[in-house]
Amino acid sequence: MFLRGFLALCLAGAAIPAAADTLAVTAARMLDVETGRVIDNPRIVITDGRITAAGPAATTPAPAGARGLDLAGLTLLPGLIDMHVHLSSDPRLGGDRALRFVRSFQAVMGVAHAKVTIEAGFTTVRNVGSDGFDDLALKQGIENGYIPGPRIVPATYAIGATGGHCDTNQYPAEFEFARPGIADGPDAIRSKVRELHRRGAEVIKFCATGGVFSAGTSVGAQQYTQAEMDALVAEAHMLGMKVAAHAHGTSGINTALRAGVDTIEHASFADATSFELAKKSGAWFSMDIYDDDYILAEGARNGVPEENLAKEREVGLKQRQNFQAAHKAGVKMVFGTDAGVYPHGDNALQFAKLVEWGMTPLQAIQTATVNAGQALGKAGDVGSLSPGHFGDIIAVAGDPLGDVTVLRKIAVVIKDGQIVKDAR
Ligand code: ARG
Repeated sequence: MFLRGFLALCLAGAAIPAAADTLAVTAARMLDVETGRVIDNPRIVITDGRITAAGPAATTPAPAGARGLDLAGLTLLPGLIDMHVHLSSDPRLGGDRALRFVRSFQAVMGVAHAKVTIEAGFTTVRNVGSDGFDDLALKQGIENGYIPGPRIVPATYAIGATGGHCDTNQYPAEFEFARPGIADGPDAIRSKVRELHRRGAEVIKFCATGGVFSAGTSVGAQQYTQAEMDALVAEAHMLGMKVAAHAHGTSGINTALRAGVDTIEHASFADATSFELAKKSGAWFSMDIYDDDYILAEGARNGVPEENLAKEREVGLKQRQNFQAAHKAGVKMVFGTDAGVYPHGDNALQFAKLVEWGMTPLQAIQTATVNAGQALGKAGDVGSLSPGHFGDIIAVAGDPLGDVTVLRKIAVVIKDGQIVKDAR
């Protein structure tokens, strides 16, 4: 009796393995983003979502039964990674315009934004701040196959001080509502980190300084003390999460770096001390240096109040100059665009800015691939075409090492070994 039950259990558990799903992609060229080497006539084999082989087709056979995809004439790169997006925000809803819509409208917009983001070749994004757990809803929708979109690393709510950049300050007292990410003092901040982790945050985003798009904050002003940032970072790291600090002003940047944050977002007024601190701690800068062009050109039309446009004029050029200085000083960089502040799907416009302000095309591409993979703590999963990584591949016409603007037009997108877009 006992044995029969045991046998039945064993049989039930020993499900017959489904035949492996294998895709073998060939193309004209493949860019090894780690070294900058270009491999002619490559083949990449993806089995059950992971790359199992990549190299010259002549020495990289396609396994029997593999589906073939020949991307003749195109160059293959790893799926791109944007370390700073807000999928449920739209730049055209400046000022108070978002208040005309029910809250869930933001998540609905997110569905459209997730689609254009992956079609632009961004197969992984870090969503660093959203309301109502929109980022989790999008992630669930994508992972369960309801909607197309990138792999999302969600922060859920951004954490910040009362009245700071991550709070909502523009309404009269009668309309005051409690922002779920607000926490003051080390203990409250620690419990906020724990709460967001429990809800599903995989990275912690917090506001170390004022910002451009908040009311009543000065971009340069620090908004958490050293003790507060220390507590936040220690707690997040203890729970296995990386920390992204929104920081424009110098003292906020340097305090966040001393606390041990993993990425500095914006980094507009970073100075020589910031560069040294970042190099010592291994922190990455994520500088959204394309945005200024869009904000100054379209902001007023989008309903952005003059208060915010004035702050943008304070930040824009300085941020670009400091990007150049930071890069020259050897600070490690990742690709973060703040898409949501400008239209989703245009993420790749930033590559040309990175080159204009001092990077080689390869370095610019590395910010959105290998570097981002490392900064996410997922270097074995994303940002490279070497075996073991997720089968996230993009294909472009032209030579991205000669002209990064070819990345604005992605012919083919493959995620987890599945073809998401084929616009050849
Ligand atoms: N979310 C950022 C803020 O409000 C956007 C800054 C955009 N401007 C720029 N020059 N990068 O502070």
